[in-house]
Amino acid sequence: MANTTRCSNAGPRKANCSAVVGLQWGDEGKGKAVDLLAAQHDAVVRYNGGANAGHSVVVGGTRYALHLIPSGILYPGKHAVIANGVVVDPWKLIEELDALATRGVDTRGLVISSRAHVVLPYHKLEDGLREDLLKGGGGERAQGVVGISEIGTTRRGIGPAYADKVQRASGVRMGDLLRPGVLGEKLDLAVTIKRPLLRELAGKQPDIDLPRLREACEAVGARLGPMITDTTYLLHSIIDQGRPILFEGANGTLLDVDHGTYPFVTASNCGSAGIPAGTGVPMANVSRVLGVMKAYSTRVGSGPLPTELKDATGDRIRERGREFGTTTGRPRRVGWLDLVAVRYSAMINGVTGLAITLLDVLAGFDELRVCTAYSINGEKTERFLPDAIDLAQVQPVWTSLPGFGEDIGACKRREDLPAGARRYVEFVEESVGVPADIISVGPDREQTMVRAGVA
Ligand code: IMP
Repeated sequence: MANTTRCSNAGPRKANCSAVVGLQWGDEGKGKAVDLLAAQHDAVVRYNGGANAGHSVVVGGTRYALHLIPSGILYPGKHAVIANGVVVDPWKLIEELDALATRGVDTRGLVISSRAHVVLPYHKLEDGLREDLLKGGGGERAQGVVGISEIGTTRRGIGPAYADKVQRASGVRMGDLLRPGVLGEKLDLAVTIKRPLLRELAGKQPDIDLPRLREACEAVGARLGPMITDTTYLLHSIIDQGRPILFEGANGTLLDVDHGTYPFVTASNCGSAGIPAGTGVPMANVSRVLGVMKAYSTRVGSGPLPTELKDATGDRIRERGREFGTTTGRPRRVGWLDLVAVRYSAMINGVTGLAITLLDVLAGFDELRVCTAYSINGEKTERFLPDAIDLAQVQPVWTSLPGFGEDIGACKRREDLPAGARRYVEFVEESVGVPADIISVGPDREQTMVRAGVA
């Protein structure tokens, strides 16, 4: 295990850390924002989620799709930290490490918390079988009471792995991969509990070979062992030296298990509230929270999307925005910008600045619609309704803004934007009450307008 340092609690808190969080349903373009800020930070830290996330970063003309490894890995000399709040599929992680190595990326900066939980094959099996059950309306479930269909998960085992973490006795942590006795006992218990459940769900004996699973876990433990450490002490030692850390949120606030559109959410705290629990670093150390939002809305999987466009306009935005999942390849559902939702997310996260992405995708429309309130049972409200059953009842109240005809991909400064695009950004800033620190008008690093002093 890597060395960790003892830290002091004396003196004032060094609040020079930053966070990048998604303000919608994931896929907001957080990778680009992290990429822009990474250079100013000594460590880039993932604190939630697992291989369900997909961050695309384009560096030096090369596109990297990262699922588990923090984007900081692309910066030599920085720590890329997978903290305790993440659930790690070690086989996927090794695949990702190997893919980076073949492209010449130095991955020695990666460290993994010994307390991060392990996603095991039976978690993925359970995730898929639960989804199949929900999809088929199977079993003897009462139908139509709460309108729950499949969640539309990535089937990467995320929910079942977090559930086992909370169940405790059978939860396997990364550090356990290095303790054969503990590992064996935990796997034995987990499989004893899972087998009848999986048999019932699958209608046949599940394919779990315990001795082989144990061997496979020991093998990945041997490979990843040198990277497994106490990341909490590591992060505090960095903070004690006055060096800044960047926290990289995965998924999006509206998929947050507590604050998102439950039950159509992921299983972790995706917003800034996930940082203290998922890393051991208090929020007092984080002075900047950059909230990343698309200039429109997208969602993958099931659940309400009040501004959804199921027409040619939606198709056009999907095509122009290349709205197909990084992790699953699924076409994303698309809608106009929902400012009720974004305002709520900005509030939950304590957002200090916005990064508005994919503004270029909206070029060519005569009119741009934004949802500024909801109507529910004939009443108007400006409050977001995070409960999925409630949110499914709302109708958007629209504000119409002028469009912009020109392609804006070549604009370098905010003043270069056509009047319609500038007005759109100002409208978002006024409505959310937070300035746009970053405006992105294309996939390349150069196609980004950054407010002075931000990066
Ligand atoms: P899970 O995280 O695989 O359990 O999936 C739960 C829900 O979150 C599904 O609707 C997924 O499509 C969605 N989801 C999870 N991660 C992401 C992400 O990074 N971007 C967009 N949607 C996501």
